Amino acid sequence: MARIHNFNAGPAALPLPVLEQAREEFLEYNCTGMSVMEMSHRSKPFAAINEAAEANVRKLMGISDDYAVLFLQGGASLQFAMLPMNLRQEGQAADYVNTGSWASKALKEAKVTGAVNVIWDGKGENFTRAPRPEEIQETPGAAYVHVCSNETIGGIRFTEFPTTTAPLVADMSSEIMSRVIDVNRFGMIYAGAQKNIGPAGMALVIVRKELMERCPETVNVFLRYKTHAEESSLYNTPNTWAIYLLKLVTDWVDSLGGLAAMERLNEEKAQALYDVLDGSDFWRPCAQNASRSTMNVTWRLPSEELEELFIKEAKAGGLEGLKGHRSVGGIRASIYNACPRASVDELIAFMKGFEAKYRDSAFCTAAG
Ligand SMILES: Cc1ncc(COP(=O)(O)O)c(C=O)c1O
Repeated sequence: MARIHNFNAGPAALPLPVLEQAREEFLEYNCTGMSVMEMSHRSKPFAAINEAAEANVRKLMGISDDYAVLFLQGGASLQFAMLPMNLRQEGQAADYVNTGSWASKALKEAKVTGAVNVIWDGKGENFTRAPRPEEIQETPGAAYVHVCSNETIGGIRFTEFPTTTAPLVADMSSEIMSRVIDVNRFGMIYAGAQKNIGPAGMALVIVRKELMERCPETVNVFLRYKTHAEESSLYNTPNTWAIYLLKLVTDWVDSLGGLAAMERLNEEKAQALYDVLDGSDFWRPCAQNASRSTMNVTWRLPSEELEELFIKEAKAGGLEGLKGHRSVGGIRASIYNACPRASVDELIAFMKGFEAKYRDSAFCTAAG
């Protein structure tokens, strides 16, 4: 078996020990005579998995009983719609910070059901940075302030979060559990699982319980956070396999020392890559320094032809998933929690070789 170095943006690399344990338990889970995928979501063994998964999330992120922790379907995209339905009341507007593709999608969805104020917009700077806290001026009476904490496509993140009067809501899909954050500063956090905490097909939602009470009666029962909170995410048949894998992934994070250890490893990996990008004008990092993501590192090369060649030669060398998002092009290395340091080192070695090989031709072409 030859596993590649996986830089996919999501679905993305999962920790090898997690995949091995899942393989081990695939046909028969814990002496039950069946696979997790074959058991009732109302059974005792699955209830234990569900409870352990929630307990792991609470422990790793330091989440108090003031918050509900939910495992929902529909990905992070359904949260773009459920959030305003649940937290914005009749006649209220919600504040949105526009840092790029995902923040734009969230605010577009919120506009379908009510009023939205875009209180900061990075479009004029080509979405190359997140705002500093002092740049955020919320609208009096806003239902909440929404941010995308890490823009997966642009490769930028909030290094520091603003302090807001209205509840702060963050889409943390591409950086959940990659660094220590103080959950108490947020009214709600949500994330698609498929980058840092499990397979595709599930979203993690952490929502302050009192905010769930805002939901108007006109919202369908299934779309209310309260419905799922009252049933411990078992209102209907959940994605049992994703909950099981999230439990294994969070066990793995815990075994490495939790989020503080994860954050240290992630900073080291990202720094090693940014050092190469800063070391030569052959590489053109996209994000402004203060907003550089530790999860999605994005850069350009002197020409689109070289970018294509880079992706092709990298793939031939066992480095996959480096093509930038189709909407922006360029190169993107997604180096989530499960991307090993060895993969980043392999990428760096490849980059050095690539630069040595093409540097002169690139600048001759550019000059001539
Ligand atoms: C920051 C961010 N938000 C939301 C989404 C949408 O997630 P999903 O595909 O789970 O709906 C993505 C997907 O890549 C993302 O990166």
